[in-house]
Amino acid sequence: MKQINSNCEMQTFARESQRNGKSIALVPTMGFLHEGHLELMRRAREKADLVVVSIFVNPIQFGPNEDLDCYPRDLAGDLNKCDSIGVDIVFTPTPEEIYPDGFQTAVAVNKITQVLCGASRPNHFQGVTTVVGKLFNLTLPDFAFFGEKDFQQLAVIRRMVIDLNFPLEIIGVPIVRESDGLAMSSRNAYLPAQQRAEAPAIYKALSNACKLYNQGINKSEKLCKAVSNQLNKNIESDFEIEYIEIYDSNNLTRIKNKISSPATILIAVHLGKTRLIDNLQL
Ligand code: PAF
Repeated sequence: MKQINSNCEMQTFARESQRNGKSIALVPTMGFLHEGHLELMRRAREKADLVVVSIFVNPIQFGPNEDLDCYPRDLAGDLNKCDSIGVDIVFTPTPEEIYPDGFQTAVAVNKITQVLCGASRPNHFQGVTTVVGKLFNLTLPDFAFFGEKDFQQLAVIRRMVIDLNFPLEIIGVPIVRESDGLAMSSRNAYLPAQQRAEAPAIYKALSNACKLYNQGINKSEKLCKAVSNQLNKNIESDFEIEYIEIYDSNNLTRIKNKISSPATILIAVHLGKTRLIDNLQL
């Protein structure tokens, strides 16, 4: 396994690999890798000749009051994990390498970035699409793997790839959960013990909505209300709900009333200082 820090070296390696007929799979990450990331890497390993994992905590996708400064990092541990999966290249550029002096270009997907997480994080998705577009240009992948936990991010990246004709296939990988149902996330590390014990209630409430849907309740409002009631039923609960909504799984449009499948229920909550997201296909 090789670690590359420079854009130029990364792009040269990718171009040479392309010339030699080797396919490339990219797994973009912000590091502090967990089992969810490892699953993306395993899928990438099966799919392509070469697997590139990028580790870059992207400053421009964090808002001014968000957790950029304390975002968890563990490069040595991450490199060991990548090695254990058989990754070929770990691309670890610095912020100065990705955003040199004078940088002033952005990639923006307009409509589907305004809802759900985009409503409370106004520049977040533009930060994501800008860096992912750059990573695609630097690593020249045939395939790129993203987790379905970030359901809206995946939809936004798929849109960008279609709209800008990036010549690659985006592959979404199902959410990996802890044994108690909590969706794996680097941000779970922020949760103190008491909140970590409460957090699995999110998946339980989504699963219950799914059960109600299968029993014939197909009104979006009723299902979302059931989730919020379940999360708030304990008077001491620390959950502060940002949104619970149901969206068409294919085109990310909101389903306000009767659900016509395929649909996905999505949630964002604050548990103390930690913002958690999750979703479940109905
Ligand atoms: O999902 C993430 O970890 C990030 O948003 C990504 C795709 C690596 C871009 O910084």
